[in-house]
Amino acid sequence: MWASTRVSRTIGVAYPILQGPFGGRHSTAALAAAVSNAGGLGGFGAVGLEPEDIEQVVADIRERTRNAFAVNLWVPIAGQDDAEVPAQAAERAVARLRPFLTEYGIATPSLPATGPPFHQQIEALLRASPPVFSFVMGVPERAIVDEIRRRGAKSIGTATTVDEAVALQAAGVDIIVASGSDAGGHRGSFLTSVDRSLVGTMSLVPQIVDAVDVPIVAAGGIVDGRGIAAALALGAEGVQIGTAFLATSESGAPAAHKSLLGTPRARTTRITRAFTGRHARGVENTLMLALEEHPDDIVSYPAQSDLTLPLRRAAARAGRAEHLALWAGQAAALARPIGAADLVSALVNETTSVLERAGRHRAHDHTRPGETRAITGVIQLYFDGLYEGDTEKLARAFHSTARLYSLNDGAVQEVTRDAWLAAVAGRPAPKASGLARTDRIVSIEVTDDALATATAECSIHPRYFVDHLAFLKIPEHGWQIVAKAFRTEVMPAV
Ligand SMILES: Cc1cc2nc3c(=O)[nH]c(=O)nc-3n(C[C@H](O)[C@H](O)[C@H](O)COP(=O)(O)O)c2cc1C
Repeated sequence: MWASTRVSRTIGVAYPILQGPFGGRHSTAALAAAVSNAGGLGGFGAVGLEPEDIEQVVADIRERTRNAFAVNLWVPIAGQDDAEVPAQAAERAVARLRPFLTEYGIATPSLPATGPPFHQQIEALLRASPPVFSFVMGVPERAIVDEIRRRGAKSIGTATTVDEAVALQAAGVDIIVASGSDAGGHRGSFLTSVDRSLVGTMSLVPQIVDAVDVPIVAAGGIVDGRGIAAALALGAEGVQIGTAFLATSESGAPAAHKSLLGTPRARTTRITRAFTGRHARGVENTLMLALEEHPDDIVSYPAQSDLTLPLRRAAARAGRAEHLALWAGQAAALARPIGAADLVSALVNETTSVLERAGRHRAHDHTRPGETRAITGVIQLYFDGLYEGDTEKLARAFHSTARLYSLNDGAVQEVTRDAWLAAVAGRPAPKASGLARTDRIVSIEVTDDALATATAECSIHPRYFVDHLAFLKIPEHGWQIVAKAFRTEVMPAV
């Protein structure tokens, strides 16, 4: 079953489908719990919440579900979040808003004192201890990640580039969300500018999968089973879906926002700083375009967000989509206005049927996308010098006939020494030769003359297993073998 991946197993959910957490009060406990109760991972965006509210949110979700759920925080970006906004700049920003403010009868918005500090938020979250902590906009400190683990909870980081994924892995997070530029809401880029970090989901996911060992969750532009199947084919072991859940009845998005999702109007989205001062993707509308005409008059985050908030709230009350921040990803026009549990079950059924359909075209492929498979077989590392210093075992292997069998379907294949040598001579090993080709393996133990057990950690996506024991296509220093069991049964020489 495609749903059993390292992501679903790590978090303990039936399906590796994460509901994207929403900041800006678009999250609700009802949505998170509905998704978790349906077998996915519900999420709640707690950015901007006071510490006591964070504890309350966790309690509210706990009351509604016994299953795992995630709470998300924004890691502060030093020098940005705390940057002083000069009074004149704020005045210019307000002047650009003036025509809209007047329309709603709103007095001049003022900049509030600073919001709740991150360290207080994380302390509150640690006290509340949800099953999953999710982060965006940066790398949580190692001490925080360690503390989360000590409590038996899991941590998720969000990367928009390969470098960010590598940094998150180094910090010890359990799972990384690869957030493509297709995604709705704010860009979480933190190592370099957003402009230099705009990589679409289709391009980003396989590159991050190649670069790190931790399981990857694909985010951005996924709204149905086709998108989930595609993400799994790219090597992701789960998906994080935002916009499609934003359109559900349980989401906290304003009605005027929700009713626009799933319509042709939602086909045109842009990344803009207009609403909050930080880059985010949303459906193009009047307010966005008007403010973007004067980009220099948009102040930094969070000041711009504070200045536009009264207007956005008034527009929500008035049901006027033209003056809202219509956060949405690039596949927003495919969103469906249904309940969250129904969406989860539609996503699961669609994914299964898309993969089954794809499977019919791959008669000899016994693997299922999304799963890193345990494969039993000969591993061509024998030929790649990885047995260096282990000549005794090497000699034994070379003087043997290997019996290969696939843990996928139990198919058995015997490969003689001559066939091995032929494969060595004709590198790379021929397709479907029965030889798995790898670059690296963790250990090989020859337990007795008849049996050798090789253990490798392997993050190679199963589509590279062309047949049940076809070779693994691994360019030099490309694919990493990170963690799965290979077993090689070596029979004595005949
Ligand atoms: C309204 C909205 C608010 C969001 N807020 C957050 C947030 O606070 N933290 C976060 O990690 N991701 C946030 N996201 C991103 C989503 O969690 C998810 O990764 C993204 O929406 C996936 O792309 P999609 O919208 O194309 O499905 C937000 C997305 C939207 C649409």
